[in-house]
Amino acid sequence: MSIIILAIESSCDDTAAAVLRDGIILSNVVASQEVHRKYGGVVPEVASRAHQENIVPVVDLALRNAGVGKHELTAIAFTKGPGLIGSLIVGASFAKAMALSLDIPLLEVHHMQAHVLAHFAEDPKPALPFLCLTVSGGHTQIVLVKNHLEMEVLGQTIDDAAGEAFDKTGKMLGLNYPAGPLIDKLAQTGKPVFSFPEPQVPGLNFSFSGLKTSILYFIRDKTKENPDFVGNNLPDICASIQDRIVKILLKKLRQAAEQTGIREIAIAGGVSANSGLRAGLEAMGKKEGWNTYIPSFEFCTDNAAMIAVTGYYKFLKGDFAGQDAAPMARMEY
Ligand code: KG4
Ligand code: ZN
Repeated sequence: MSIIILAIESSCDDTAAAVLRDGIILSNVVASQEVHRKYGGVVPEVASRAHQENIVPVVDLALRNAGVGKHELTAIAFTKGPGLIGSLIVGASFAKAMALSLDIPLLEVHHMQAHVLAHFAEDPKPALPFLCLTVSGGHTQIVLVKNHLEMEVLGQTIDDAAGEAFDKTGKMLGLNYPAGPLIDKLAQTGKPVFSFPEPQVPGLNFSFSGLKTSILYFIRDKTKENPDFVGNNLPDICASIQDRIVKILLKKLRQAAEQTGIREIAIAGGVSANSGLRAGLEAMGKKEGWNTYIPSFEFCTDNAAMIAVTGYYKFLKGDFAGQDAAPMARMEY
């Protein structure tokens, strides 16, 4: 008999649902909440309300695209955390109610573990063990993936995440939220002519808050000299910011590869959509003799396919959640 899993992701500002059959993704639907743009960041209360509005049509569409009826489902997976608690509660409550009414098991999934396992939603799949640089709006981690459900964080940011560094510096430049993709686009027509200092953080940890401050002062000082500085140099400023962030990330990733001797190297999370990081990893991989794994764009940013894949491995292990399952804003692996 086939294992068919409906997965729901609602940890931040994307309402997503996906259907998986026997490890293969049949559908992957995401409704992004444009409403946050005008506020310059995600407003938690607004996000919860938008999830509430989106969740039924998104789940309906995921089932329809997969050609699966709800009575054919074997289990329902949902994101337990980490994330915005009000957003998580919408997805978790929906999943629990649906599992209860269909009398099928529930699977609770760790959002960051799911970003890593997004690599198993498509081919080629990394061989175990592998290293994954997981870079999103809330996290920056180097993870040692021992097997599908056993991961160890080798290093992480001690302050801001890489995605936050993109978003916050973009905001200083007057770019809309989320600024990461806009900086990426502008950087493609610019050159990294401005240099920003490299943070000195021991081991495999990261720091981005000093970089953020130095960019703030740089913009302030240059604008004092010439009020049109940002407008006249936007592509070069973006290329310089991106270049520094990518170099910080790749340097620590190479250090982790040297330390562990692992040559299977992956990136995951929203920032893995960045063209500079993707090209930089490929170039470094060639030089270092690594096998590199870069997710397709639909599996980089928040999606439910990654929740479905993680749920599938949990299903195979018999690791089910009860109706008392509760979402958590913060969560260890
Ligand atoms: O994984 P994700 O969708 O959500 C979280 O779990 O946080 O990541 C969102 C982050 C945002 O900070 C966004 O600006 C960043 O990923 N991002 C990018 C790009 N696409 C998304 N950053 C740089 N370049 C991109 N192309
Ligand atoms: Zn995410």
